[in-house]
Amino acid sequence: MFNIKDVRCEYKKDPIGIDVEKPRISWKLESDQRGVVQSSYQIQVAENQDFVNLLWDSGEVKSDKSIHIEIEDVQVTSRRRYYYRVQAWNQHSEGTGWSDTSFWETGLLNKDEWSAEWISSPSDLELMDGTQSPILRRCFSLNAAISSARIYATALGMYNLQLNGQKIGDAYFTPGWTNYNERLQYQTYDVTALLRSGNNDIEAMLGNGWYKGELAWSGAHSHYGNRLALLFQLYVVLNDGTEIIIHSDEQWEAEASPILMSELYHGETYDARLEQKEKTWKQVDVIPYTKDILVAQENDHVRIIEEINPVALVTTPKGEIVLDMGQNMVGWVRFSVKGEAGQKVKLIHAEVLDKDGNFYMDNIRTAKQTNHYILKGGEIETFEPHFTFQGFRYVQLIGFTPEQLHLEHFTGVVLHSDMEPTGSFECSDSMINQLQHNILWGLKGNFLDVPTDCPQRDERLGWTGDAQMFIRTSTYLMNVAPFFTKWLRDLESDQADDGGVPFVVPNVLGKEGNQHFPPPFSSAAWGDAAVICPWTIYLVYGDKRLLEEQYDSMIAWVEYIRRQGENEFLWNTGFHFGDWLALDSKPDSYVGATDRDYIATAFYAYSTSLLQKTAMVLGKSQDAEQYSKLHTNIVKAFKEEFVTPAGRISVPTQTAQLLALMFELVEGKAKERAVEKLMDLLKESNFHLTTGFVGTPYLNHVLSENGQNEAAYKLLFQKDYPSWLYQVTKGATTIWEHWDGIKEDGSFWSADMNSFNHYAYGAIGDWLYRKVLGIDMDEQYPAYKKSIIKPLPGEGLFFAKGRLETMYGTIESSWTKLSDGTLEVEVTIPSNTTAEIILPNSSGRKIFESELPIEQSNALTVVTDSNNDVKVLVGSGNYLFKY
Ligand code: BGC
Repeated sequence: MFNIKDVRCEYKKDPIGIDVEKPRISWKLESDQRGVVQSSYQIQVAENQDFVNLLWDSGEVKSDKSIHIEIEDVQVTSRRRYYYRVQAWNQHSEGTGWSDTSFWETGLLNKDEWSAEWISSPSDLELMDGTQSPILRRCFSLNAAISSARIYATALGMYNLQLNGQKIGDAYFTPGWTNYNERLQYQTYDVTALLRSGNNDIEAMLGNGWYKGELAWSGAHSHYGNRLALLFQLYVVLNDGTEIIIHSDEQWEAEASPILMSELYHGETYDARLEQKEKTWKQVDVIPYTKDILVAQENDHVRIIEEINPVALVTTPKGEIVLDMGQNMVGWVRFSVKGEAGQKVKLIHAEVLDKDGNFYMDNIRTAKQTNHYILKGGEIETFEPHFTFQGFRYVQLIGFTPEQLHLEHFTGVVLHSDMEPTGSFECSDSMINQLQHNILWGLKGNFLDVPTDCPQRDERLGWTGDAQMFIRTSTYLMNVAPFFTKWLRDLESDQADDGGVPFVVPNVLGKEGNQHFPPPFSSAAWGDAAVICPWTIYLVYGDKRLLEEQYDSMIAWVEYIRRQGENEFLWNTGFHFGDWLALDSKPDSYVGATDRDYIATAFYAYSTSLLQKTAMVLGKSQDAEQYSKLHTNIVKAFKEEFVTPAGRISVPTQTAQLLALMFELVEGKAKERAVEKLMDLLKESNFHLTTGFVGTPYLNHVLSENGQNEAAYKLLFQKDYPSWLYQVTKGATTIWEHWDGIKEDGSFWSADMNSFNHYAYGAIGDWLYRKVLGIDMDEQYPAYKKSIIKPLPGEGLFFAKGRLETMYGTIESSWTKLSDGTLEVEVTIPSNTTAEIILPNSSGRKIFESELPIEQSNALTVVTDSNNDVKVLVGSGNYLFKY
């Protein structure tokens, strides 16, 4: 058996409306044999599904490449569907036969194909309080049956399209959040089935969204503009072949919608009575606005991903009626209600109850998170908001009558970017499993079109540091390649001329800074997202094109640092967030004790090393040499400045030791001393961390990598403050911003900086996958073409098992400690890849693989027997080791 499956174009199955000129094709292979590799492949692209008129035939290409193969020699044109299929052969000359036929369809590739005009509601249309959402509409009729129809649409603001009363597509918050000054995504919809011959009615409701709505603090709004507008183009091909184009122009009309107010932070107010009001449509205004910034949708749509039922309806000591979703979630509550016209109901969303069990909103700061609904009356009516989302577990219900208060009338609707789930992790400890669950829900709540710090308070911004800290973990949970591809393009477009990288992307804090943050606005460990993120996506998905694309931005960042201060090899100037929220900070400070220049220079070295590797990958040897030299000099300067001649790191914090070890800034004696110092510090704190945002992601890694795996497990299993499990003991269902968001006595760490859904500390997920399960890779063979599987069992766990869906297929790794002291390690490696499996503590022990002594198994090469580990080289297949 040798099969081909999961054929993808630009990571997607049958994408429509893409504007990539040379799309890349990837596929997976599966076989029931071990050690299978692809020896050749063939791709065909055709005009039609019958593959009679070929546009391209690669012929049989001798290669083991099965991901990101560029379609060559096909000049793609707009609005066209291209069919393709792939077949592959393995080293035994077995063929897969042709894959199922797949396709990609192009969007509008040239800006001048946009004949549509930007339209907006006319200035004399009365919009209540200036906040009411307009509806723009166009009625038209078609006099023949429809053969195919596509809509290309975008907006300044958010849009929600309906065709003949039905929502078009399943995406929300379109067109997504980009750096609208330079990039605006449009979406493509296949509406063949929604159109009808006869009369049709298109309606577009517009909302403020990220474009015009409130973002960042102090009521700041209209970051990109203050006039909502729509750009819309519909192509209909009738059965007789005629093509009709309906686009946004002065023939459209506008009216006020029932949405009286909708803001991301504050929620939505909807007066359902207005649905029934007689409408007086007014002609729209055509407004001038560029179309040069349009790009096809790059990341995955935000969709409704799941729905959850509330677990309880409680009355608090203060008498508030509160719905408990049982999960801190992001999205909204859909509810049904039957009552009199004009009845007003209100839902306020919060993350936690206070220690007395009352509804608590202080940590949401100025965000109101409140949806108001005014009933139209009569039958049961169902409402969910349009242009807002809430981060919450508890919902205070106001204005409902006792008969209307039934759990089953309320549903939690979870929305986020619709990325493919890739990983799973399970172990013998239920609290660690809960931690893993919390990490995943941190991602769900904060990967809503852009990677945000938190989803609930008046912030929800694309903090670069947080993204950088969590990106590797996120790759173990979902396929985040399209998500970060889009975000990195925003980062690049928001990068300052001098290479500085803003604190948040998209940058709504302003190029000149604002009252909270004066310029310069680049901080170490935050701006380094410009280098760390593309490198991570390259490693995990083998996406060299993204590296090429981001290369200039990566260089610009490193060169920006080089120009700071008087010593080009140290970064010891400017503002930095430091080890944000670390526990060794001074009282009343958010910044940990680790010297900020130390952190800045360490990250400078790290980013330069990644840039040097990038230059190598891209074949830019001169650059590689240059950055290798720069790296050497930075490390030298770092040592001179921060490491004593006898090898002691002068900054005596956990985070300082971690950075030096993680970024390989010390070796020999100094390295040993750093490990010792780290262990001393941990002992002093009775094996508790003091690290903040910067140090925490590396803590357990560094321990496991430096012979202190048991210490890493000890930290993992701590249950008192500060530890990952402390919050689990407090009932957390997501990751907290603070180690003591809720204190032992039930009081809160603070009112103002206390998010209960902040993924940064969830970066421990990377260690759970990479070290506990041991799923890692050889960087020379990215995308897990060659994986390194080195599970590290530890005290407290009897088993751990998990999987990771890679570009080549599924890697599985599990281990179990049997009661007789035997360790069982089971590993599955996908076809067309190889692996180095390192069996922990196996030296000197008799090892069996699938019941055969390991030496007798001919599928394995036993390479070394160094330290305590036996290393075996394997090809694809499933392996079960016992010893
Ligand atoms: C955010 C963080 C962010 C930080 C900068 C906070 O307000 O919530 O997660 O990285 O500011 O230090």
